[in-house]
Amino acid sequence: MSIHLNKVLISDNVDKKCEELLRQHNIEVVSKFNLSPAELIKELENCEGLIVRSDTKVTKEIIEASKSLKVVGRAGTGVDNIDVNAATKKGIIVLNAPNGNSVSACELACSLITCLARNVVPACQSMKELKWERKKYSGGSELNGKTLAIIGLGKIGKEVARRMKHFGMQIIGFDPFISDEEANALSIRKLKLDDIWPIADYITVHTPLIPQTKNLINKSVFQKCKPGVRIINAARGGIINEEDLLEALESGICAGAALDVFSEEPPVSTHLQSLLSHPKVIATPHLGASTKEAQTRVAVEVAEQFVSLNDTRSEFQI
Ligand code: NAD
Ligand code: MLT
Repeated sequence: MSIHLNKVLISDNVDKKCEELLRQHNIEVVSKFNLSPAELIKELENCEGLIVRSDTKVTKEIIEASKSLKVVGRAGTGVDNIDVNAATKKGIIVLNAPNGNSVSACELACSLITCLARNVVPACQSMKELKWERKKYSGGSELNGKTLAIIGLGKIGKEVARRMKHFGMQIIGFDPFISDEEANALSIRKLKLDDIWPIADYITVHTPLIPQTKNLINKSVFQKCKPGVRIINAARGGIINEEDLLEALESGICAGAALDVFSEEPPVSTHLQSLLSHPKVIATPHLGASTKEAQTRVAVEVAEQFVSLNDTRSEFQI
């Protein structure tokens, strides 16, 4: 069997650079968005490759129905919307673009931290309603001297540490896979989770969503936290238990939360609506990677892998 990529379907809004690069290497490209599962199966009939971002759900059903599919690429970090097990069983390669959007995701997390400190979002909303509520939105606090806990010290977590220490924050963190040397080099104090909760003023999560991190921050964790802790999630919805977060906001244990990601996207369930409408919550609709620079990089990163895979595979005829 030889893998040769004659035709690739791009089914989400991926930067045009991806299509351009594939075409330059004589790969036919079809771009069609918002396809239903049945339409996606139909479009994939003659495609060896599929490129997605977040919207297309590459389910077991899609994978099992596809006759010619050989590679699925995601122009982004995680592969959460691709059933990797089903793909692997069928011998379909799954690849992603893990590097291109780290700085953008980090910058959004840092912006959310600074916004939480100073009531920026509600004060702006009040100004837009033509109000002048200095008293109401005073009482923010400096980041200087506060303790920021970073859970997950991979690409994005490390970038956050590099930037936030320049605000004068003390950086502590937890990641079972990074060495003390790596942490020391970034002036991060590595601690056990139970030692982190009582001392952190801000907690930002940057892990993947895996069984070990699902509901990592939950009711019992909030009970161990410093009263007034602020929480940031620009990683994956579900790492912080959203119902427990709402309860912690209502009880005052948590003084603010900034969320870019949700266990359900878009968030329509009643509990998520209640969380979003809480006055101490600020939110963005999964914008971490949505900068021009990141989107260009991930588009090129995924296309280059398709191109190199195509060349190699056609030469070696596996
Ligand atoms: P990464 O793989 O470089 O880093 C993740 C880190 O989490 C690793 O160092 C890993 O050792 C650590 N980790 C794994 N299990 C852990 C655990 N139980 N406790 C603590 N740490 C643990 O990934 P990254 O590129 O830094 O991405 C981090 C997260 O951000 C991912 O969930 C990714 O999907 C998400 N992301 C979101 C956006 C966005 O648009 N909001 C953009 C890019 C990435
Ligand atoms: C990612 O996994 O890269 C991000 O969540 C952003 C995206 O979905 O594009």
